[in-house]
Amino acid sequence: MAQALKRSGASVTAVDTARYSEIFGQCWISLSACEINERELDDALNYLSNLPPVHGYFTETFCIESRFFQHHNGMRIDAIRNALEEQFRDSVLFPVLLTSLILASDRVDSTTAVHMAYLKKWSARSHKDLELRKPELLDGRGTTIRGNAIELAPQLGSFDFAYLDPPYNQHRYYTNYHIFETLVAWDAPEHYGIACKRIDSRDDTTKSDFNKKRQMPVALRATIQQLDARVLVLSYNNESWLTLTDLMDYCSSYECVVPLAFDSKRYVGAQIGIHSPAGVRVGEITHLRNVEYVVVAGPRETVRAMTEPYAHSSNEVLTASHAGALQRGELSLF
Ligand SMILES: C[S@@+](CC[C@H](N)C(=O)[O-])C[C@H]1O[C@@H](n2cnc3c(N)ncnc32)[C@H](O)[C@@H]1O
Repeated sequence: MAQALKRSGASVTAVDTARYSEIFGQCWISLSACEINERELDDALNYLSNLPPVHGYFTETFCIESRFFQHHNGMRIDAIRNALEEQFRDSVLFPVLLTSLILASDRVDSTTAVHMAYLKKWSARSHKDLELRKPELLDGRGTTIRGNAIELAPQLGSFDFAYLDPPYNQHRYYTNYHIFETLVAWDAPEHYGIACKRIDSRDDTTKSDFNKKRQMPVALRATIQQLDARVLVLSYNNESWLTLTDLMDYCSSYECVVPLAFDSKRYVGAQIGIHSPAGVRVGEITHLRNVEYVVVAGPRETVRAMTEPYAHSSNEVLTASHAGALQRGELSLF
């Protein structure tokens, strides 16, 4: 979303607590493509791609002690990440090269998308060779902030448009993507459990109120209310802790609030059932689709213009999924 907004000419500020989000932000949002010498970038990618493999922390932890990556790729990741630290740390290319490495590792992992577990049998893609690709950089201005949105909301300044995409439940991004956190921190952390999660996952400082059922409503309401934005867009879904009417209520200081709803395929875990670390299915596939919400809040005319193209299909989904709330008058359709 941040990239799309930047591409459309906006000056974007991206906020997230994750280390890898900060690197992605530095690559695609803060940096302007015109600051980069294409030839230097190509040479650096070529150089890194041809480094001799090294057996280091990454290989030991994620290829031997666990099976997230095949050995040949783990050793290349160790070699490339070491070189980034030793030779490119102060270069303007650093976030671009590290983004390339993170995405390359993601294409050859042996998971179902998150790092909470690896597959019992190697995934087909894990057999491929790690390939560093050149991220497509964007021209323009932007700012990246690694920090807690709940605390930052009142200090960020004034925006024409704010998009909030908060976590949905208790599943933390810090642990779901712990290998990316370590690839960025490159701090060889002590780890625990079958998935070799970072030991600091247990620290309160790595936990977010958005992942705590009791704190989430208060935190989200405060974040929305303290943000200074002319138009606010909030995404969420119907399988989480807050109802659509809660979300709309949190936006009630805006002149107009319109809910949009989209029928959607559920996340990959729901498609394959829930498995124990030993690979035994412990949760059944219940249903395969859910409803994704997009709440749009702001001045009436702007909100109307933004939501009108989706109103028809959205209203059908809302009528099907929220008959009770519509009947009780808690929800009205656009
Ligand atoms: C649903 S994801 C949104 C991902 C985002 N749309 C993207 O494409 O990168 C929720 C994000 O919220 C971040 N997060 C969790 N708690 C946070 C907090 N208190 N402040 C800022 N970001 C937080 C997570 O790291 C995660 O990247």
